[in-house]
Amino acid sequence: MSETSASGATATTELRYGPRQRHSKALDITRRGLELVATHSNEQADGVMERASSVYLAEERQDEEIEVLFRRTPIFAALSVEIPLPGSYKTLDIPKAPIVIVRQEDGSLRAFLNICRHRGASVAYGNGSARTFVCKYHGWAYGLDGGLRKVRGGDNFGPLDTSCFGLTEVAVAERYGLVYVRATPLQVDPEPIDLDAVLAGLAPQFREWGFETGLAEPRIHEPVLTASNWKLAVDGYLEPYHFASLHKTTVARYNNSNQATFDAYGPNSVSGFLGRKIEQLAELPEAEWPLMRHVQVIYMLFPNVILSVMQDHVEYSQIMPGATVDSNIMYHLYFRYPEWGDEEMHGKRFVNTQWILTEEDIPMAEEVHRNLASGGQSKLVFGRNEPALQHQHRSIDRALEEASTG
Ligand code: FES
Ligand SMILES: [Fe+2]
Repeated sequence: MSETSASGATATTELRYGPRQRHSKALDITRRGLELVATHSNEQADGVMERASSVYLAEERQDEEIEVLFRRTPIFAALSVEIPLPGSYKTLDIPKAPIVIVRQEDGSLRAFLNICRHRGASVAYGNGSARTFVCKYHGWAYGLDGGLRKVRGGDNFGPLDTSCFGLTEVAVAERYGLVYVRATPLQVDPEPIDLDAVLAGLAPQFREWGFETGLAEPRIHEPVLTASNWKLAVDGYLEPYHFASLHKTTVARYNNSNQATFDAYGPNSVSGFLGRKIEQLAELPEAEWPLMRHVQVIYMLFPNVILSVMQDHVEYSQIMPGATVDSNIMYHLYFRYPEWGDEEMHGKRFVNTQWILTEEDIPMAEEVHRNLASGGQSKLVFGRNEPALQHQHRSIDRALEEASTG
């Protein structure tokens, strides 16, 4: 878009002051961010926190986390735009509970274990669109509602009450353009997901972002299998402290490295990352602030999703524990605002983000895991300048503790 033409200038102005660019949380972060920059201070945790290395290494600990945090508790599964139309589906490999989420004819969502009731193959792969799910092993066919529609070679198979062999259903909830699932079968836990309760105060912010509309279908990076504990992979997203050093030539060129706002919402949190030129705003009246040019709103959706709202797009990383304590699987999705910038520019930015992840962040998490696994150091320490990191670990402890005390 040309900013020199009259129409271009108008369009740019509209974008800059559009509702998503004037979000109340972005305004709050900007006000606080300017104060931090002016006073050379930071929003700090109460003290320095120590964390035992064993938290990242013990198999029993990982088993407990998977059961409590990933199977019994609702977790973020998708943005609605990933499953847009009747028949659209998305699979999700929650540890020990593969899931398929599918949009119904009436526009609602249902979710099932992605496990064929015959002999356990998957019924869907990746994401896409289907009228029925046909298992590729022997060809049993399931409707979008999970019901078993057809047993191949039916008579020959022998007597079977097909009404008892539908896919196993799990709870799903959708609001504000967010989709959450709970991987426990509904027969075991029939309670619907109370999404507002799960969001613990974040609902008004997501209502205001309006993710139901205005996001393009995502660019999706192939899941990356990496050799570190899942929590080390998450930790790297929760502080900008490492930008100046690890990301000296990348992220640190445009982001402030050691100042951020922090707010807790139950176990979730929001960090406000600040652009390096945010102090320019001090010269302007608030009504003219191009907010999203200077802040990034980083949502930690407990326990494993980091969703970032940027000026011209939204992206999230979703980190799943792997089969062993020293592995995790990272999914990364990027949703552009179609009216802001061209596809090519977003494509480049997407590739650049992948480069930073795969060349800088992931190797560092793997290096830390190897060093902890060597047994050479029994604990780590989180600074007062790393409040979101501290909050994440306290929230994990609290969830496990509550589960163990019933
Ligand atoms: S395992 Fe699915 S049809 Fe046999
Ligand atoms: Fe990083």
